[in-house]
Amino acid sequence: MFNPTAEDLRLGIVGAGAMGGGIVQVAITAGVQVLLFDQNEEAAATTREAVFARLDRRIERGKASPEEVEAAKACLQVVNDLALFADRQVVIEAIVEDLEIKRSLFRALEEIVSEECVLASNTSSLPIGAIARVCRRRERIAGLHFFNPVPVMRLVEVIRGPDSDPTVIEALRGLGSRLGRTPVEVPDSPGFLVNLGGRAFTTEGLAILHEKVATPAQVDAVMRDGFGFRMGPFELMDLTGMDVNFPVTRLVHDAFFADPRLRSTPLHRSLYEAGRLGRKTSQGHYLYRDGKPQTPSADAQLSGAAAEKLLLLEPDERLRAFAAELGVELLEEDDGSSPILAAPLGEDCTEVSRRSGADPRRLVAVDLLPNVATRITVMGAPNVEPAIRQSVVDLLGQSRKVTLIQDSPGFIAQRLLAMIANLGCEMAQIGLASPTDIDTAMKLGLNYPKGPLEICEHLGCQTTWRILERMQSLTGDDRYRPSQWLRRRAALGLPAGFVAT
Ligand SMILES: NC(=O)c1ccc[n+]([C@@H]2O[C@H](COP(=O)([O-])OP(=O)(O)OC[C@H]3O[C@@H](n4cnc5c(N)ncnc54)[C@H](O)[C@@H]3O)[C@@H](O)[C@H]2O)c1
Repeated sequence: MFNPTAEDLRLGIVGAGAMGGGIVQVAITAGVQVLLFDQNEEAAATTREAVFARLDRRIERGKASPEEVEAAKACLQVVNDLALFADRQVVIEAIVEDLEIKRSLFRALEEIVSEECVLASNTSSLPIGAIARVCRRRERIAGLHFFNPVPVMRLVEVIRGPDSDPTVIEALRGLGSRLGRTPVEVPDSPGFLVNLGGRAFTTEGLAILHEKVATPAQVDAVMRDGFGFRMGPFELMDLTGMDVNFPVTRLVHDAFFADPRLRSTPLHRSLYEAGRLGRKTSQGHYLYRDGKPQTPSADAQLSGAAAEKLLLLEPDERLRAFAAELGVELLEEDDGSSPILAAPLGEDCTEVSRRSGADPRRLVAVDLLPNVATRITVMGAPNVEPAIRQSVVDLLGQSRKVTLIQDSPGFIAQRLLAMIANLGCEMAQIGLASPTDIDTAMKLGLNYPKGPLEICEHLGCQTTWRILERMQSLTGDDRYRPSQWLRRRAALGLPAGFVAT
């Protein structure tokens, strides 16, 4: 087995596209001896120049010395004959995403390399087992899934094929670390960790849009301001492109036999089919002019007629503390005309009114689950009195931005956060990785401010479970069914990441 820390480690990379180029860069920067092969000689030469130019810029930015960059460049050799891979200790394949083409490459490599050489695929969607199936020595084959752009994204998923030898996995973990990435190990499962875990954020955003609860700009603003996401789901979809995220969504949904938790909406397919791919086509969920999104306002208009009195619906400590800071009179008894304020979890105003008997025309709900210091989400039942609702918007708008949405169990943030947490719990339940590795993968692979299990812990397992359980019951949709991992931890009062030792 190769030693990933060996100074003269000999690596072969096949495929000089976006990913191959990125892998070359991190490998030669780490002093690994790299041979690069692409069936298109011009592509390989162009990639070498692009990698060298990126390394030169590191000198200009003071991130590397000229000597270091020269040493890195000396580690790369572009070859035009795969037979020169005979002395490689490990080969990473980053060619076109096509099973038959990858299979024939792996078969060809087996004829060239030594018996000990490890063969790794950077595939994002093909089962490692399906590639290895046609090979003689399946135990030396595994996945090494980098993220784009490789030099920026610190994560690498090490994928254990059905036959991968544990020593192969260990060596690839070591190689990932040597290349400056954080390796997480995952079995050969559809979407691995990140492409599965990432479905909750985008598909729940799309579900909110599909139901006309809120606009993309509103959803994105709530997730940025309320929980510190760098981008909301629609901004993220536009950045990755519908040509990438729609096929991945469909693949993962199909591979899990149409689990409703992974379901997308018709709009997603329409954008994909219409070529409204996002930033790259200047049109996706947003329109782009000169690369800048034309984002409609996510903020409710104020009219200057703030409510002066409020009745709090339920003796909820969080709601009381929040309302106390609004500088408004809090009624002890219903005066029959003032707004009634509620802060439900997993319920819409309609359900709160039905359950409590509160007058739906005066009932206004706020989402206190996310951080509400800069923005708060407000909703009312379909028959809420517009002037009453506006008076609450005006009151809240004195101290923060207000996002006014249609009645929805779970508002925006509760829905998205609970769905991310639930999918993370399910990934832990089906043994894809440890809670810590799931969190690491989602933070490094998708730039989430917290991992799914951390989000669950932050909200509280019981709160997360309650939101989902109510949403499932109110919508009748098994999309919201809580993971058994979550149910057990909520019922037993255990932390979200609890694992028996
Ligand atoms: N682009 C991403 O965001 C991303 C992220 C993670 C993983 N991946 C995976 O990485 C792999 C490569 O993706 P990419 O975006 O770099 O593709 P790309 O289209 O940019 O590059 C592919 C390169 O492979 C070469 N090639 C194709 N068939 C070949 C063969 N039989 N032998 C040698 N060279 C061959 C092509 O000439 C091309 O230069 C795919 O499996 C993809 O799923 C891509």
